Amino acid sequence: MASFLLLLCVSSLFFPIVIMGAQPRKPIDVPFQRNYMPTWAFDHIKYFNGGNEVHLTLDKYTGTGFQSKGSYLFGHFSMRIKMVPGDSAGTVTAFYLSSQNSEHDEIDFEFLGNRSGQPYILQTNVFTGGKGNREQRIYLWFDPSKGYHNYAILWNMYQIVFLVDDVPIRVFKNCKDLGLRFPFNQPMKLYSSLWNADDWATRGGLEKTDWSKAPFVAAYQGFHIDGCEASVQATYCATQGKRWWDQKEFQDLDGLQYRRLQWVRQKYTIYNYCTDRSRYPTMPPECKRDRDV
Ligand SMILES: *[C@@H]1O[C@H](CO)[C@@H](O)[C@H](O)[C@H]1NC(C)=O
Repeated sequence: MASFLLLLCVSSLFFPIVIMGAQPRKPIDVPFQRNYMPTWAFDHIKYFNGGNEVHLTLDKYTGTGFQSKGSYLFGHFSMRIKMVPGDSAGTVTAFYLSSQNSEHDEIDFEFLGNRSGQPYILQTNVFTGGKGNREQRIYLWFDPSKGYHNYAILWNMYQIVFLVDDVPIRVFKNCKDLGLRFPFNQPMKLYSSLWNADDWATRGGLEKTDWSKAPFVAAYQGFHIDGCEASVQATYCATQGKRWWDQKEFQDLDGLQYRRLQWVRQKYTIYNYCTDRSRYPTMPPECKRDRDV
């Protein structure tokens, strides 16, 4: 036994065994208007450099937002965002995928602002069939208002991965075999918005937006979408199984990715629904598979 283990270790030293897993393809920058259009408060969106950079502004009258032109079933979606700098308490900047029906699926990044020098919170959530309540909250290992960072979602039939600068910060595996719904048959659009949420966002609503600091500005670049485009009514992707994100190496994280995910969970997590026993006396079934506990 010992020699077998030794052999395994030695051989993996010389021939690193890659247990599936790969980084998503490098995003391709395109101008905003290629993939997106404004949704509301058009005059609060400003375009620079031919749409390669876009600023959303929030003032006391309104926030603003944009959405993708297309709907998608699976793919890889990313954005570079520089969050509202300085005193951003009360503001929320969101980047998410959502289907448009009543029992909707949704995959969320929400960045909760803070007073100057205090840390942002990144909250993530996954809705399946209209049911969410799967919040996780982390601090980031950098100040997200000091520069652009890449925020990405990889979504295929096997898993949903949330990535920050290529570091997986969350995974949500398909648990269909356990009787749980997984987003697979409702095309989603991408959305982003900046709005005032000072009733809950910062220290649970204790810190209010300081309107004397307005306008608040979140800056965007990248606008990468590589997905299976589908009509809003479609229930399957025409190229299902054939795209790069469907392939074996994207069906699970690899060892290094799991280690980085563990690092985020151990060092930066401040809330995880999986471990909230007052809310969930029995652990939600997907948590085990997501190796969240
Ligand atoms: C804001 O800063 C306070 C104090 O450091 C912290 O408790 C809180 O988690 C931070 N983030 C938000 C969004 O409230």
